[in-house]
Parts: sequence; C-alpha cells; structure tokens
Amino acid sequence: MAKNKDARPPVFAISVVGLSGTEKDKGNCGVGKSCLCNRYVRPDADNYYSEHTSVLSTIDFGGRVVNNDHFLFWGDVSHRGDDGLDCKIYLIEQTEFIDDQTFLPHRSTNLQPYTKRAAATKLQSAEKLMYICTDQLGLEQDFDQKQMPDGKLNIDAFMLCIDVSKGCNRKFDDQIKFVNSLYSHIVKSKKPIVVAATKCDECVDQHLRDLQNFVASKKNLMLIETSARFNINVEVCFNTLIQQLDKTRGKPKTVPYLEAYKVQ
Ligand code: GTP
Ligand code: MG
Repeated sequence: MAKNKDARPPVFAISVVGLSGTEKDKGNCGVGKSCLCNRYVRPDADNYYSEHTSVLSTIDFGGRVVNNDHFLFWGDVSHRGDDGLDCKIYLIEQTEFIDDQTFLPHRSTNLQPYTKRAAATKLQSAEKLMYICTDQLGLEQDFDQKQMPDGKLNIDAFMLCIDVSKGCNRKFDDQIKFVNSLYSHIVKSKKPIVVAATKCDECVDQHLRDLQNFVASKKNLMLIETSARFNINVEVCFNTLIQQLDKTRGKPKTVPYLEAYKVQ
C-alpha cells in the first residue's frame, strides 16, 4: 500500500514517575527522574544538568514553569526509529515540590498522594512553560520559552524509574514498597509501562537482583538498565516504550548496562 506522504507523524506523551516526596520518603536525593528526562530531551553535555532541585520558594512554585503543579513539562523530542518511522514525544515528569520554608509539600489544587496523582492520564495546566533547569526558575524570559500544547496533555505511557544505587538515607525495600503502590495505580490505566533502573553506574548488585524479581513478578513488564550520568541506554529505554505504543515498529535491541557501557 502506498504511504500517505502528507500523514503527520504520530504524537505520544510519556509520563516519567518514581519515588518522590519529602526527605522522609526519598532520603537526601531523588531517584533520577529529572536526569533521565534531561538526557532524553536534551542529551548533549552543554544542556545536561545533574542537579534539579525540588525544594522551591512559594514564588518559584507559582511561576509559569512549575505553575503550581507537582509535574514538569520537559518539552518534546522528535524521534526517528531505526526503521525510519517518525514520531513526536511530549515528556512529563511527575514529582513532588517541597516548600523551602516548611519542608512540607507545596499546596496544589490536587491533594491526592503521589502514588495516585502520578498515575493521572489527563493533565491540565494553562500556559505552562517547558522546564529546562533550576536556574531558569524566576528568570524564565532569559530561556527558551515553549508552552505545553493547549495547556493539556493525555498521557499514553509511563516510564517507571527505580534507583538501584546505594541511595542516600533511603532503604531499597522502602522504595520498592512505594513503587509497588505506584505501580498498582498506573497499571489500572492500561497504558504501556517500562521500568528504568536508574544510576546503574553506581549499581548495587543486590538491588538490581531485587528489582529483576519485582519486574518478573509483573505481567509483560520490561526492565532497562540506564545511567543518565553517562547517557547509557536512555534513548533505548524510551524507544522500548515507543515500540509498545506502536507495534509496527521494530523492537530496539536492549542490552544490560555493562555491555552497553563497553560498546559506547
Ligand atoms: P525528585 O524529582 O526530587 O523526586 O528527584 P528525581 O527523581 O528527579 O532525581 P534527580 O534526577 O533530580 O536526581 C537526584 C540525584 O541523583 C542528583 O544528584 C543526580 O545527579 C543523581 N543522579 C541522577 N541520575 C544519575 C545517574 O545516572 N547516575 C548517578 N550516579 N547519579 C545520578
Ligand atoms: Mg525531579
């Protein structure tokens, strides 16, 4: 059948989720959602930031980038698969912003706990701007300004991040408990889910084994071992999810972290 040359490439929205919250929940540092998003949308070294704070003043929380939401719009990626099929991906990160005065979550219109809120498939936020980096907050006019399209997005798939490094003041078992609850909410959406093992450059072998068992206990769940720091398997991880959204695409070749690191 002749291909319609005027056909527009498909557009998908992916929501990146994983343990988030106050220091009590996540320890001294996050699980790597922001860094994974950053590497995927802006992979080059000049545009990759390794620190993205979630502790914000009331003014920054209310600015047009955060827009009083607990999610970030990371912009879009034009994706060309190995088979030449194009598509456009909008990227969202579900996080929890903490008040720099009270160290409690900022108050937003959505009062649901993270595990439930992050499973949302319909997101709205009028005139919300694309997030780039922490320094952008309060200086929006000095950075590229892109709006979330029509102030709304329907989520098509989820990237579930699980940190397999030592973590800071956080037990791996507690992360898995949180993720189990989060998973039970996102699976109800019936949207494709891929698990990204994050920070594999500092992997604790036992954590990775426990995570492999967690993934094996779920139906049709795939695990990709990533490192945003060294840009290993980040694109592959998203391509795996895109293939599940559009089965006409070929399956990307997936290899464990160490193997991918060696061929880099
Ligand atoms: P919240 O949104 O606050 O819940 O955190 P997050 O999940 O977005 O985590 P974030 O990406 O901000 O990363 C938290 C910390 O982990 C930062 O200090 C990052 O530099 C570090 N980190 C992220 N990805 C990697 C990685 O691939 N390897 C290593 N070694 N560290 C990483
Ligand atoms: Mg984050």
